[in-house]
Amino acid sequence: MQNKYLGLTPPLGWNSWNTFSWEINEELIKTAADAFITEGLKDAGYEYVVIDDCWSEKQRDANGKLVPDHEKFPNGIKAVADYVHSKGLKFGIYSCAGTHTCGGHPGSFEHEFDDAETFAEWGVDYLKYDYCYKPDHIPGEVLYKRMSTALRNCGRDIVFSACNWGNDNVYKWIRESGAHLFRSTGDIQDNWESIKKLALSQIGNECYGGNYCHNDIDMLVVGMYGGSVNQWIASADAEGDVAVVADAANAATGARLGGCTDEEYRTHFSLWALMDSPLMIGCDIRNMTPATKETLTNKDVIAINQDIECRAAYCIKQWNNPENVFSLVKPMSDGSYAIGMFNFGDRDGEMSLQFWDIGLTTASGRGLDIYDCWKHEALGTFTERFCTTLPPHGCMVLRAKVVKVK
Ligand code: GAL
Repeated sequence: MQNKYLGLTPPLGWNSWNTFSWEINEELIKTAADAFITEGLKDAGYEYVVIDDCWSEKQRDANGKLVPDHEKFPNGIKAVADYVHSKGLKFGIYSCAGTHTCGGHPGSFEHEFDDAETFAEWGVDYLKYDYCYKPDHIPGEVLYKRMSTALRNCGRDIVFSACNWGNDNVYKWIRESGAHLFRSTGDIQDNWESIKKLALSQIGNECYGGNYCHNDIDMLVVGMYGGSVNQWIASADAEGDVAVVADAANAATGARLGGCTDEEYRTHFSLWALMDSPLMIGCDIRNMTPATKETLTNKDVIAINQDIECRAAYCIKQWNNPENVFSLVKPMSDGSYAIGMFNFGDRDGEMSLQFWDIGLTTASGRGLDIYDCWKHEALGTFTERFCTTLPPHGCMVLRAKVVKVK
């Protein structure tokens, strides 16, 4: 029987794609699993170690079975899964709804039930399922339903991570397909423009996520600083400016071309946490800077993402600067609010959140006890409103408890 809590809250983990892409192997995955322990990631709640595309040979074997790449994974995938499990972690892998993966390896089209069984034999706990080389005349909806049925009947609990980039009106059918999370966006790049674009694209789609079927805005680029074997992810936007600007900001830390500032990474992490996206780390977790580690292991922010009710935050725009400055307000199961205040603009931005807008009237005799989740300090009790000035691309994340004030 399936574990009825599988996928209850957004999965937390690491995925090989953003930094390593096709350059993956047994040693990398094992040392990444080690880093979950030594770098405090497991302790912060991260659980899934996921291998993305390019792990298999280009051909199936004579029986139609997927074959792990002999050079990259000489001992097979099960050996890697066993190692990950020995660390008390869970293991994930990747396939595709089409005939081939985006990297040109065999996809699971017409092999769904056999592949699901293979994954179960290997000890897979999480399957990311892509959308490249999808036969034109078969709806994606049917293909995700097919793999979901296969996984639910393979004899093992496997989290099903759909990845069709928000195509084909995925919002309308993905929950009923049985997927536990679904990518709603194209691929992230390691630059501020990309972060901003992905986040904005999902504001207004709050109603589609929720328990057991989470809106996945893509994996995190926190801590990459432009370092990826995949130039598409590492690069700037089409004009090339973004990377150069970010590079100047990172020059002091010796970071490579591209990437974001630590402040932008904090904002990125806060957005993903408040928007209930899975938090799948994409940097090289074996070599994190102190700032990266601090961002990724912020337990106050992770707790917001992992709230058991998974109610997505709603957006309140700053009335006199609605293009750039807004709050995301998420009702928490303990009665408090999680509040993120964001400035997407390029100069300082004032945000003033009127409590009236979140259901707390002054006449109620209640105010908010506010705690700053990045500074880790109590800011005091506020009535009527909370105002702050946010730096460019910066944010504030608050946990606010309703208290009597008279
Ligand atoms: C893309 C997907 C990426 C990564 C890549 C692998 O379609 O969105 O996250 O999995 O394929 O080729």
